[in-house]
Amino acid sequence: MFSGFPLFPEQASSFAADVDNLYFFLLAITAFFSTLIAGLVIYFAIRYRRRSEVELPEPITGSTKLETLWTVIPAIIVMVIFSWGAKVFLSLHRAPSDATPIYVVGKQWMWKLQHLEGQREINELHVPVGRSVKLIMSSEDVIHSFYIPAFRVKADVLPGRYTSIWFRAIKPGEYHLFCAEYCGTKHSGMIGKVVAMEPTAYETWLAGGPRDQSMTARGQSLFQNFSCNTCHRSDGQGRGPVLEGIFGKTIALQTGQKVIVDDNYLRESILAPASKVLAGYQPVMPAFQGLVNEEALAQLLAYIKSLAPQAATLPASTPMTPAPESERQKSKP
Ligand code: CUA
Repeated sequence: MFSGFPLFPEQASSFAADVDNLYFFLLAITAFFSTLIAGLVIYFAIRYRRRSEVELPEPITGSTKLETLWTVIPAIIVMVIFSWGAKVFLSLHRAPSDATPIYVVGKQWMWKLQHLEGQREINELHVPVGRSVKLIMSSEDVIHSFYIPAFRVKADVLPGRYTSIWFRAIKPGEYHLFCAEYCGTKHSGMIGKVVAMEPTAYETWLAGGPRDQSMTARGQSLFQNFSCNTCHRSDGQGRGPVLEGIFGKTIALQTGQKVIVDDNYLRESILAPASKVLAGYQPVMPAFQGLVNEEALAQLLAYIKSLAPQAATLPASTPMTPAPESERQKSKP
């Protein structure tokens, strides 16, 4: 529907149709009631007009029937809108566990993107058609908003924490990418494109270009450069917790509180480790706030997430596949 209409973006992702159907439903309801009310106002104005100077209206004292009707009908309509909206919203914010993560950093005034395989892009995002992609996003400065109209996805990109959205492109093509949150003088120039490619073409694209190290490998070098490995030892003898297999787990803190180890928890634990210390450990880790930038942080996360529980017995360079993303990692503001 509306595909030829120039103001209406293409439906290029798996839930574009769902979003549009809800939108058209809201539009139809609004149009119906606006017409009904406007029509009745005009009709009643004519039908019940004052016909003579002495005419007095008959007083109405109330009607339970009418009041029930105009309470129940809108309540039903609103509940339909709510449950339908909640369903679409949840499907938009709950990435499938097999979604490929891509890290996004917003910065005045550009988008920086990093694929697990190591490719890095600026203001351009290449994605395969038919595969779920999960964006893990943060900002280096102010609030931005990542918006791909053709995919019907938009989410604020915030400094200091991760937000995430996911999509599955269904149509090869080039689509607009916008920053949808005013972020300074060149906000309007913070645009780019998303290139959805057939899987084979995407593989070719991934293989071409500069041979960059994978994010996991970069993360591993950082992990060693920062000497994280001296305390976070896989044999459990270090001063810090074992990181193998920790991602996605529920852990107990010193305070007794339970938290899920997701992207945001790992982020906080690297930048400000003393804020949520695992039970049984001392807050001895130095804070890395200001020492790692957003891109390096994403690489460290990719590395930590790749550490499978049995990795202790393998050579350190083997695990390259990321651990399954936790379903519970939802950080929508
Ligand atoms: Cu970034 Cu507007």
